[in-house]
Amino acid sequence: MHDATCCLMHLRTVASVDLPAVCPPGEQAVGTYLDKCGTCPGSTYKNSTGINLCRPCPVGKAINSSLPADHNSLDDCVCSPGRELAGDACKVCGLNQYKPAAGNEPCTACPAGSLTSGQQPSQHDELADCKCQPGSYMTAAGTCEICPSGTYSSAAGSFECQVCLDGFITVGSNAADHDSVFDCLCPAGYQLAAAGANDSMQQTCLVCPDNTYQASPSLQPCQACPPGTVTLGPAPGDHNSSTSCTCMAGQYKVGGSCSTCPANTFKTTPGEAACVPCPAGTATYTTSNPVDHNSASDCHTVFKLIDSGGTFSCGVVTSNSSIACWGSMPDIAVPISQLAWKSVTVGGFHACGILANDTVRCWSKDSDKASPTDPNLKFSSISAGGYQTCGLLLENSTIRCYSNPSYIFSYAGYDTVGQYTQLVPALSAAAAEYLQASAG
Ligand SMILES: *[C@@H]1O[C@H](CO)[C@@H](O)[C@H](O)[C@H]1NC(C)=O
Ligand SMILES: *[C@@H]1O[C@H](CO)[C@@H](O)[C@H](O)[C@H]1NC(C)=O
Ligand SMILES: *[C@@H]1O[C@H](CO)[C@@H](O)[C@H](O)[C@H]1NC(C)=O
Ligand SMILES: *[C@@H]1O[C@H](CO)[C@@H](O)[C@H](O)[C@H]1NC(C)=O
Ligand SMILES: *[C@@H]1O[C@H](CO)[C@@H](O)[C@H](O)[C@H]1NC(C)=O
Ligand SMILES: *[C@@H]1O[C@H](CO)[C@@H](O)[C@H](O)[C@H]1NC(C)=O
Ligand SMILES: *[C@@H]1O[C@H](CO)[C@@H](O)[C@H](O)[C@H]1NC(C)=O
Repeated sequence: MHDATCCLMHLRTVASVDLPAVCPPGEQAVGTYLDKCGTCPGSTYKNSTGINLCRPCPVGKAINSSLPADHNSLDDCVCSPGRELAGDACKVCGLNQYKPAAGNEPCTACPAGSLTSGQQPSQHDELADCKCQPGSYMTAAGTCEICPSGTYSSAAGSFECQVCLDGFITVGSNAADHDSVFDCLCPAGYQLAAAGANDSMQQTCLVCPDNTYQASPSLQPCQACPPGTVTLGPAPGDHNSSTSCTCMAGQYKVGGSCSTCPANTFKTTPGEAACVPCPAGTATYTTSNPVDHNSASDCHTVFKLIDSGGTFSCGVVTSNSSIACWGSMPDIAVPISQLAWKSVTVGGFHACGILANDTVRCWSKDSDKASPTDPNLKFSSISAGGYQTCGLLLENSTIRCYSNPSYIFSYAGYDTVGQYTQLVPALSAAAAEYLQASAG
């Protein structure tokens, strides 16, 4: 079985094992038959010529990998990454230092704001072992920066910050203002949708409700305005300061607090501004209740006198002596308001007034029936009833009565000719000197 080839190979193998190549410093025998020399691998060296193997660098040391090292001297072994030379040995980089390459030079201080953790060389052998603290992140340039507004980082060693949910913000220039999701706050003027919930992950921010405010970014509910004060409107800017609580409509700011508008003034909007005077001839109620001063309609027309009839009333306006009527006036035309009146009297279905020159005018739905027979007669007073108006003549205080023919045909003795017709009073005109007439 044993032929020459077999035995030659066997011999050769035995010879190689027994006689490895004699290699120079930096090399050892390699190859299937260990008959060649090759450079010491990895962190090994050989400082002599011979058949011995390369030796590993001492603990903590490695070949300077950035050199085309010749591996022929113990000096080729330098401190491995994460270590620096201390005497003859290599010790792990100190706290907050790092060294990424093998070498004997000292470790490098971490960028400001970043810290290392642990004392293993692997915890000091790259820049990333310098961990920017929560609230900051490491830039491409290798510096730690505080997370920008609206972002946060909750873990050390972040390379980017996380963005707060829509509508939330972070504020402040310290890392502590950006180191937690709970630093994502609702802006001033807002509160969490579910006020008081401590879970910004599932939340949105809503504008503070009416009459509440939030003066600074927060996760707390908006605060109620002090009693008697209100917020201006629905915009966030109406709720973002303690001064957002201001005087309600019908009030104004005086001496640092809110007071009801003075008599005969009003204010329709909340705020500190002064109240507006009522138009001439109008006045407010004298109450100090703001609701009596918060609308233009709180300025009520001032009347000299009023009279009420069947379903309506009329009065003489103090400021301009016009007549204004209100109520249900089915048969009544708009009064002749531009004339100056001394007085007004209201009947069932008509009304009369004394003009400045003491003559009388009456009106009803049908304005052509609106005058006494003699429009020049002067009266000192008049009084309207259901269907008639009587008055005292200015000249001699005798009575004159007028009636609308539409209503009097069934009343015996009434002259139905004409429109408003002079009547003969029941009492003797010669005897009667009435100071005042009153119809019924
Ligand atoms: C080689 O290294 C060994 C171990 O460090 C040392 O004892 C020896 O003196 C060195 N030999 C030479 C030739 O440098
Ligand atoms: C390692 O090699 C680099 C690049 O050649 C060199 O700058 C450095 O000084 C070497 N380190 C040591 C300890 O020799
Ligand atoms: C919300 O919860 C966080 C984490 O549990 C806590 O640190 C924080 O004090 C809480 N905030 C409020 C307002 O309760
Ligand atoms: C409140 O909002 C208004 C309008 O947006 C803004 O001008 C003002 O600076 C804000 N004030 C505060 C205290 O945030
Ligand atoms: C008279 O004053 C009243 C109340 O201010 C007003 O409503 C009316 O229009 C005025 N009439 C005239 C004719 O000016
Ligand atoms: C009284 O005044 C009215 C309205 O101004 C006028 O139309 C009328 O002619 C006057 N009558 C007399 C008698 O002065
Ligand atoms: C009163 O004056 C009116 C109008 O001038 C006149 O018609 C009437 O006769 C007078 N009556 C008396 C009693 O003087």
